[in-house]
Amino acid sequence: MVSTIINAFPVNLKGLYQKLPVEYLNFQIRDMREEDIPAAAQILFQTFNDFNSTVGLPKEWESLDQAAGIVSILFNHPFYLAWVAEEKGTGRILGSNFLDFGDQVSAPGPLSITTDAQNLRVGRAFMDFFKEYCIEAGKPEIRFVQVGNNAKSFALYSSLGYIPRETLTMVSGRVSPAIARLYRNRYHIRRMLPEDADYCNHMYQNCVGVDRYHDIRNSTSGILYQPYVLLDRSEDDKIAAYTTGYSLLGHGIYATDEAFQALFSLVSSQTEQDLVFHLMAQRYPSLLLWSIRDAKLKVVRQQILMSHGGEYRSPEGAIYFPGMAY
Ligand SMILES: CC(C)(COP(=O)(O)OP(=O)(O)OC[C@H]1O[C@@H](n2cnc3c(N)ncnc32)[C@H](O)[C@@H]1OP(=O)(O)O)[C@@H](O)C(=O)NCCC(=O)NCCS
Repeated sequence: MVSTIINAFPVNLKGLYQKLPVEYLNFQIRDMREEDIPAAAQILFQTFNDFNSTVGLPKEWESLDQAAGIVSILFNHPFYLAWVAEEKGTGRILGSNFLDFGDQVSAPGPLSITTDAQNLRVGRAFMDFFKEYCIEAGKPEIRFVQVGNNAKSFALYSSLGYIPRETLTMVSGRVSPAIARLYRNRYHIRRMLPEDADYCNHMYQNCVGVDRYHDIRNSTSGILYQPYVLLDRSEDDKIAAYTTGYSLLGHGIYATDEAFQALFSLVSSQTEQDLVFHLMAQRYPSLLLWSIRDAKLKVVRQQILMSHGGEYRSPEGAIYFPGMAY
């Protein structure tokens, strides 16, 4: 059970605050049930891919199965809440949203509303619902990453008081074996272990200013995450960087530019799949240059880190790569 939840609240099976359904004119927002997963996955799959095709972006999801896998994993994730909007009268699922609620900062998304119910304020209702949820549960600090090309969602979030904080460049690819070899003398990598979580969270807190222990520790379960640490031989194998994964939800902290290059290169040299990360290009221009010019990685799109509530401060003292959550 997450320690920040006050026991007086009604809690669900995950030990997270259980909010009662909220009624709107034509629909209600309520907890997702297992039987809602196929409908929620179909909407997630269809609407993100449809949107991406209208602005010339690659598909968000390769298949309906992939989208269903994400919905199912988030539904079962120990620190995520999952909600649906259900149409009154028909019981039809109109959309879904999720909330990462394990740590000091909460992160909503992915939010998707079925095509014929868009522009009817269902998305706005969801954003209000989880903002109330966070306030009622005593953790009003919210951050998330918005798809920069999406004028509608940017406008919706802005109208609710979310503040754009960072522009992120989403990058994908792998480095060549020759590049990875450059880092092998000084560094080596291993999977992050549960006992590394304290140290990594300390790095995170020093750089970003907030606590993220549960997310970091949970990443070592390996479900949806592939966490690694970078060890510096020249400093008795001190951890110089970590990532909770170069994938949808993974974030990373790096002591130096070289530590980022080394960890990404060494992880990517042992996988057959393209890896993904978010780079704060304005803050770290030398890493942008390295990624695109030297490592020949591809830019996917621009994203925006938004926040609401709490004290936002810029990362300092190390290099921060947010995940899709924050
Ligand atoms: C983005 C999405 C979640 C929004 O949900 P929705 O239910 O369609 O949106 P809503 O009707 O609640 O709100 C949209 C608001 O943005 C406003 N808006 C839309 N485009 C705008 C623009 N370019 N400038 C200013 N305002 C704009 C609308 O007028 C509306 O405001 P209103 O409530 O005051 O009328 C939904 O369209 C969707 O699922 N899209 C596909 C998946 C996706 O992109 N998810 C979000 C990724 S970040």
